[in-house]
Amino acid sequence: MARKKGRLYGAAVKSSQLNDHRFAEALKREVALLVPEGELKWDALRPSPAEFDFSGYHRLAQFAQANSLAMRGHVLVWHHANPSWLVPELKNKKTAEKILRAHIERVVAETSPMIRNWDVVNEAIDPRSPRKDGLRETLWLKALGPNYISQVFHYAHQVDPGLTLVYNDFGLERGDGYGYAKRKLLLNLLKKLKTKNVPIHALGLQSHLRCHLPLGGRDFTEFLKTVRGLGIEIYITELDLDLSRVPGEGYERSTFAQNYVQTYLAMVQESGSVNTLLTWGLSDRRSWLEDALGDAQGSLPLDTNYQRGPLWESLRSGWLRA
Ligand code: XIL
Repeated sequence: MARKKGRLYGAAVKSSQLNDHRFAEALKREVALLVPEGELKWDALRPSPAEFDFSGYHRLAQFAQANSLAMRGHVLVWHHANPSWLVPELKNKKTAEKILRAHIERVVAETSPMIRNWDVVNEAIDPRSPRKDGLRETLWLKALGPNYISQVFHYAHQVDPGLTLVYNDFGLERGDGYGYAKRKLLLNLLKKLKTKNVPIHALGLQSHLRCHLPLGGRDFTEFLKTVRGLGIEIYITELDLDLSRVPGEGYERSTFAQNYVQTYLAMVQESGSVNTLLTWGLSDRRSWLEDALGDAQGSLPLDTNYQRGPLWESLRSGWLRA
């Protein structure tokens, strides 16, 4: 249904999940786009400063190729999932730049031509940061200074000017102080990047929706409109639902969740349609939320038996309607 509208629906997958035949069949049935859930993060790719290990990625890429699925890349720079050797190696600015550039060159080359679309920088804004610009105090900020974001986008663009480059972050939809502050800080950053002609093409709204929190309403929809006005496309990159603090059970809960998701999707699409939407996982049988919440029932489009569930329906009626 998404394809008929010229859109792409995708899901994050772990290569080990391909061992499950029923899961692989469900993927083929439901998905047009794969994103490796962890296989392209630094800690997976870089066992040591000199080595690269692309084995997990290649497993996913072979599956994608055999089944004519597209892939997107996640992620070139993030403050989590880095190998322990990395920070001690970032001794000074010059060395840090060299390490970062070499990483991007190798990863883009190895994943080309399969991956043409990358989460370049992930979660660089933190409203709780002591800095005025709201930049999270990450290893890269400490090593390279606040221009590291432009630098990473430039590196990726220089390595392959044909890539689509995405800034990705969470909590941008929230209707509380955190959400308001984050939108404001991110908008300042995006405007600055655009003024400096930094090659950035899309904003990824992770959309790990915490359904007990209010949504951002007008402030959120205006934010998206302004972002689009800068020539930046909007993606939904990691949608899933945290229902752990939603009261009620069964039908009541899933009706609440469906309304919540549909309201969210209507807000995001008020200023234009979303062409690329991914969920962070496909079936409730395995979700990263389980680690945090214990129970992730109803978080993903398929239930634990790989049957279409309430979120699947919400995507059809909420995403594909607009
Ligand atoms: C998560 C994975 O799903 C987990 O398996 C892993 O242990 C930690 O990372 N935002 C992101 C993703 O951008 O990379 C995160 O993925 C989930 C939150």
